[in-house]
Amino acid sequence: PAEDATHVEEIKRLLVEQNAVLVAHYYTDDAIQQLAEETGGCVADSLEMARFGARHEASTLVVAGVRFMGETAKILSPEKRVLMPTLEATCSLDVGCPEDEFAAFCDAHPDRTVVVYANTSAAVKARADWVVTSSIAVEVIEHLQAKGEKILWAPDKHLGGYIQSKTGADMLLWDGACIVHEEFKAKGVEDLKSVYPDAAVLVHPESPASVVSLADVAGSTSQLIKAAKELPNRELIVATDRGIFFKMQQAVPDKILFEAPTAGNGATCRSCAHCPWMAMNALDNLAGALREGTGEIHVSDELRHQALKPLTRMLEFQA
Ligand code: 13P
Ligand code: SF4
Repeated sequence: PAEDATHVEEIKRLLVEQNAVLVAHYYTDDAIQQLAEETGGCVADSLEMARFGARHEASTLVVAGVRFMGETAKILSPEKRVLMPTLEATCSLDVGCPEDEFAAFCDAHPDRTVVVYANTSAAVKARADWVVTSSIAVEVIEHLQAKGEKILWAPDKHLGGYIQSKTGADMLLWDGACIVHEEFKAKGVEDLKSVYPDAAVLVHPESPASVVSLADVAGSTSQLIKAAKELPNRELIVATDRGIFFKMQQAVPDKILFEAPTAGNGATCRSCAHCPWMAMNALDNLAGALREGTGEIHVSDELRHQALKPLTRMLEFQA
C-alpha cells in the first residue's frame, strides 16, 4: 500500500506533465479504476472507451485493459500516443481468431457480410465490414438483417448465438469463446437463485446460452451496471468478470451483489471469474509506461486505414 500510494502520486504527476488521460475498463483493478475516475479519465465498457479516447483532446491515451482496446484507440486516433501498462494483455477471443485462418473463412463465404466483435486484432478488423461491441451487437445485426444480409460472425460463438436467438438472423459463427465467461454454470446460478429467489440475474452475453437463458438482463458491462440501478431487486446475481463489482457496488451501495458461480455445485470460485489478461494491468506497470514510454501501441498505416472503416461504422451507427 505505501508503494501503491507512491505509484498513484507518480501517475497523477506524469498524466499532467504528459498531457495524458487514463482510459480504463471495468475489469481492471479497483485502484486503476479509481485513479481513472479521480484524474478525469474514464472507466467504461469497450464501446465507451473507444468513444472517449477518440473525442478526448489529450495527446497521450493510457489504455488500461487488453490489447484490442489499445489498438482500437490508436486506429481511431493515430495522432495520439497510445500507451498500455503491458502489451502482453491479450484476450482468448483475439488469440482464438488468427488473421490467416479468419481470412480463409471469409474467402470461403464471399456472400456474407463480415461482422466481428471488437475483441479481435487490428488485422481481423481490417477484413471486416462491421465491428461491434456487445452493447450494440444486437441492434447492428437487426439493421443488417432488415436489409436482407447474411452474416459471417466472429469470434465469440456464445455472443453470436445470443444475437442469433434475439434477431433470427442468418449467422455463420466462428468457434471462439471467452475463457472467463465460458466458466459460468447454469446449475450454479439456479442453486444460488433457489437460496435467494428474489435476486435478479445479470449476465454478460459472452456466457453460455444456458446461463444467458436465466438472465433478467443480458448486456455489456455498462448495460449491466445500468440494470443494477434500474431493477427493483435488492439482491443481484452477476455473471461477468468480478472487476465489475467495484463500480457496480458504488452505483448500488444498498444492494447485495453475488458473483455467479463458476462451478456447478453452487460454490463461488472467487478467483475464476477474473480475466488473467485484465489482471496484468497494475499500478507499477502503468507508472512505468508513463515514466519510460513503454507499452506503446503501433498500427501500420495500411492496417489502420482498413480497420478504420468498420470501426467508424460502429461509432456512427444509430439504432
Ligand atoms: P464490454 O464491451 O461489455 O465492456 O466487454 C468487453 C469484454 O472484454 C468482456 O469480456
Ligand atoms: Fe477477452 Fe474474456 Fe478477458 Fe474480456 S474477459 S478481455 S472477452 S478473455
